[in-house]
Amino acid sequence: MTASTLSLDQLIASANADFAASADAPALENAKAKYLGKTGAVTELLKGMAALTPEEKKTRGAEINRVKSAVEAALNARRDALANDALNAKLSAESIDVTLPGRGRGSGGIHPVMKTWQRVEEIFGSIGFDVADGPEIEADWFNFTALNNPPNHPARSMQDTFYVDMNGTDGLPRLLRTHTSPMQVRYARMHAGDVTAKGKPIKVIAPGRTYRVDSDATHSPMFHQVEGLWIAEDISFADLKGVYTDFLRRFFETDELQVRFRPSYFPFTEPSAEIDMKFESGPLKGKWLEISGSGQVHPSVVKNFGLDPEKYIGFAFGSGLERLTMLRYGIGDLRLFYEGDLRFLKQFA
Ligand code: PHE
Repeated sequence: MTASTLSLDQLIASANADFAASADAPALENAKAKYLGKTGAVTELLKGMAALTPEEKKTRGAEINRVKSAVEAALNARRDALANDALNAKLSAESIDVTLPGRGRGSGGIHPVMKTWQRVEEIFGSIGFDVADGPEIEADWFNFTALNNPPNHPARSMQDTFYVDMNGTDGLPRLLRTHTSPMQVRYARMHAGDVTAKGKPIKVIAPGRTYRVDSDATHSPMFHQVEGLWIAEDISFADLKGVYTDFLRRFFETDELQVRFRPSYFPFTEPSAEIDMKFESGPLKGKWLEISGSGQVHPSVVKNFGLDPEKYIGFAFGSGLERLTMLRYGIGDLRLFYEGDLRFLKQFA
């Protein structure tokens, strides 16, 4: 029995059954074509009306319309049901666990080397040191010559560096400063007038970035130093020891420090000393680490400050901020500071 030979009620029942058996939207559209399509059963019934008398058309027409409405209603109900099922399936597949804690926002922190920088400024600031800032691209004269390191002097090779393709006013190439010591010269030359006219000492620290051709567990091509300079009529090597040891006690928050001043050589200080400290913790525990160069400023450098070396005397030091940070937290490899690894950095946040 084909759809066209069914009674009207059978036709409705058959459509209902076909729609119910359609498992998804494409199957339902195929089933729909069987009844309401161009050659569908309901359409065929409508076509058959052409041969009827006007009287017959009235009653037959009403019956066929009843069938058509019933089939359409069944189709729409099934469509809605299928759409509902699809939505439910999607919702349960994508279910979110509302009991999970939110991701939140990670809180940032200050980089451990910057923390050291801030502490150094705070401590020296509290004992009357001014804080100065200078250029990282420096003239040869400030970085070397004015510090008793004339061109071709062998001591220059102690600090190999990066040269910039741009000449300074001295005709020599500019370079990435190898230390913060050029700030001794820049600052002192700017304030020499205050020293001679007002008797105001030069008492300054200059923290900042420095550069050298160096890379291993305790050296990085870019690193940080803090320069210190105190020049007046009566500042001695003993003051250096006193001020620096006091700084270290406050920086490390303990008096139990193992510090040594080891005789050394720098062209711009005489006598000179390297300051070493012993690791109290971490992978380098028990090892000594050099944290600073220091010394009494050489008379020819005082002259380059624009001051009379017969009258003015004092000390300078240049300390590594990474080194101080390594000692404070017991860090064995300075490259950790630059890798941006959050597992490392978060410990200081
Ligand atoms: N500038 C020296 C260095 O970087 C350190 C230093 C500074 C030594 C001041 C003496 C006085 O190695």
